[in-house]
Amino acid sequence: MLIEMRDIERVYHLGRSEDVHALRGVSFGVERGEWVAIVGQSGSGKSTLMNIVGCLDTPTAGHYLLNGRDVAQLSDDDLSDIRNREIGFVFQTFQLLPRESALNNVELPLVYRGVKARERRQRAKAALRQVGLGDRMRHLPTELSGGQRQRVAVARALVSEPSLLLADEPTGNLDSATGEEIMRLFEQLHRQGHTLCLVTHEPRLAARCPRAIRLRDGCIVADGPGREVAFADLPDAARAAAPVTAPQDNAPRSAATRCP
Ligand SMILES: Nc1ncnc2c1ncn2[C@@H]1O[C@H](COP(=O)(O)OP(=O)(O)OP(=O)(O)O)[C@@H](O)[C@H]1O
Ligand SMILES: [Mg+2]
Repeated sequence: MLIEMRDIERVYHLGRSEDVHALRGVSFGVERGEWVAIVGQSGSGKSTLMNIVGCLDTPTAGHYLLNGRDVAQLSDDDLSDIRNREIGFVFQTFQLLPRESALNNVELPLVYRGVKARERRQRAKAALRQVGLGDRMRHLPTELSGGQRQRVAVARALVSEPSLLLADEPTGNLDSATGEEIMRLFEQLHRQGHTLCLVTHEPRLAARCPRAIRLRDGCIVADGPGREVAFADLPDAARAAAPVTAPQDNAPRSAATRCP
């Protein structure tokens, strides 16, 4: 098992009296080579969960085992090493350095790892070719389209050959045709054996993932084949007519601290 989450909770403390229970007892596992979509309405805890999976944040309670190692037992140095070697991140807003070429942006994680210049360059070029940008390496981010920028970000995430690729709304800033381009790239990476977690609010994208997990109010309310979980909250008519519509979630907010 690559990812094992056991009863994960995350409470944000706001001031003296106000606590936000962003995750309330989340448990699931992800095997190597799986492709999992994380879905749920705004505020349901998707990004909070991804930050914990990516070792950018630690749970308030529960255990997270990555590759069999309990993340809570690791030192800060170990954690930054894991972030650098094991995990590739892709964000909605690309997060590229604006004054650096595509090639330099992709090389950056290898600079942090102390990889020598020549090898860095070779690996960054290979990663850019892998995402179909072999002819755009010297371009600045401003000289690239949105979809191309996001592909640079995917190349940067792949260049350190991580065990796990995490993408939080990677198509959120792209039009649907360009989002489709990124989706096809993820499909290709999945076929090559990469392990992927994709946060998306678009049911039609989640439906294409072999597996989807739905969060509601910090709890997992569904975990199964993407095509089933993606549209589960939509009424039948809406499902047939408008698969692009966001799920309607009118469930009352529960006061319980833990998931039922
Ligand atoms: N740093 C923080 N401090 C306090 N509360 C937070 C913080 N980050 C998130 N929250 C709260 O935790 C809950 C879950 O937030 P999260 O960002 O995980 O939601 P999300 O599912 O990613 O939503 P979206 O689809 O809008 O990105 C929300 O109620 C949010 O207000
Ligand atoms: Mg979010």
